[in-house]
Amino acid sequence: MSTVEKHYLQRYPDSNGYFGQFGGNHYPVELRPALEELAESYEQLHSRQEFQHALTRARIGLQGRPTPIHYLENISKEIGGAQIFVKREDLNHTGAHKINHCVGFALLAKEMGKKKVIAETGAGQHGVALATAAAFFNLECEIHMGEVDIAKQSSNVGRMRLLGARVVAANQGQSALKEASDSAFHAYVEQHETALYAIGSAIGPHPFPMIVRDFQSVVGQEARKQFLDMAQDEDRLPEHVVACVAGGSNAMGMFSSFVDDAEVTLHAVEPCGVSERLGEHAATLSYGRPGTLHGARSVVLQGEDDTPAQVSSIASGLAYPGVGPEMAMLHATGRISVAAVSNEEAVEAFYRMTRSEGVIPALESAHALAFAFQLAARRPSSEKILVNLSGRGDKDVDFILENYGVKAPA
Ligand SMILES: Cc1ncc(COP(=O)(O)O)c(C=O)c1O
Repeated sequence: MSTVEKHYLQRYPDSNGYFGQFGGNHYPVELRPALEELAESYEQLHSRQEFQHALTRARIGLQGRPTPIHYLENISKEIGGAQIFVKREDLNHTGAHKINHCVGFALLAKEMGKKKVIAETGAGQHGVALATAAAFFNLECEIHMGEVDIAKQSSNVGRMRLLGARVVAANQGQSALKEASDSAFHAYVEQHETALYAIGSAIGPHPFPMIVRDFQSVVGQEARKQFLDMAQDEDRLPEHVVACVAGGSNAMGMFSSFVDDAEVTLHAVEPCGVSERLGEHAATLSYGRPGTLHGARSVVLQGEDDTPAQVSSIASGLAYPGVGPEMAMLHATGRISVAAVSNEEAVEAFYRMTRSEGVIPALESAHALAFAFQLAARRPSSEKILVNLSGRGDKDVDFILENYGVKAPA
């Protein structure tokens, strides 16, 4: 098969783990054997029929896949522009897309003969998903989480503990997602012989971004087929596909099935926090520059001293000063378009989705919705927008009630 004919998923990364100029393996040499073992095991195991059957069983029985596509009729009519559809990843067991790759990693760990899975978490969604997958596949689980997020997402911390995971508090720096990642990577370096790092997003050294993307690609594959089935007589894809981005796991899961369709515009939505000033947002693709973070060349938000900047977002799961290398490549080549949404706009979309559609979205996903609502208002009713509704907002309910109340702020 020539390069031109290969599907996007088979073209990237290259044999050195690069997505164009981004990616690779920039981690301490002591981790190299573990990463090589992981790359080889993944290559051998994931295409095996028994592996795929076990994965499919867990996707159907544990996760509740396939998730549906749903037309937001009320909001689309209120806006009066393009029609908005959501891919209901919030309906996954544990409430977010994260379980798509957690189940894959846990199965991989089991097949590789590892005893334990380790990961970081921001909003707690990834931690709960991994603790669930670990229980399902009978593995130990260790979750690293920033102290600030432990306080903000206490219900998710309780769920992880109930599922049998050990929650390790990261209390350096901002005590948030970056520090949790530092702490989890450190634990992996020490325990790699018996444990597998089930990284929280499409970030990190090769082969992590590829593995996460591949396991998440079930989202785009289902969505593409569902969309075409829905259109029936017209062989029509959505004009726009929208996803929020921290590292890029939900975005890559969705985008990877549409990258080769030049007529589909891919929109990555980042958190603009409280302002565009460095330290007050986490919009890496919008304001970052090339750098190295967590073992990969990518785009990083950094200060003049080249160290990762402080970040801020109302959505803990989006507060990360980097982005996965594949997203960085798609941005650098102009294949994706990037928008930034403020805390305020995300909260407004959170209330609108809740009140007009009866679906409480995760604050992370509310960023993608906010952008989609703005886009719909600018586009004609003949166009269709597909949003990856990456998670449900149960984890955010206490925070929203305490800070904003029952009704949307006027
Ligand atoms: C519901 C939800 N959506 C999106 C994200 C962002 O992560 P990613 O960019 O890897 O999809 C998170 C991260 O915690 C999340 O919990």
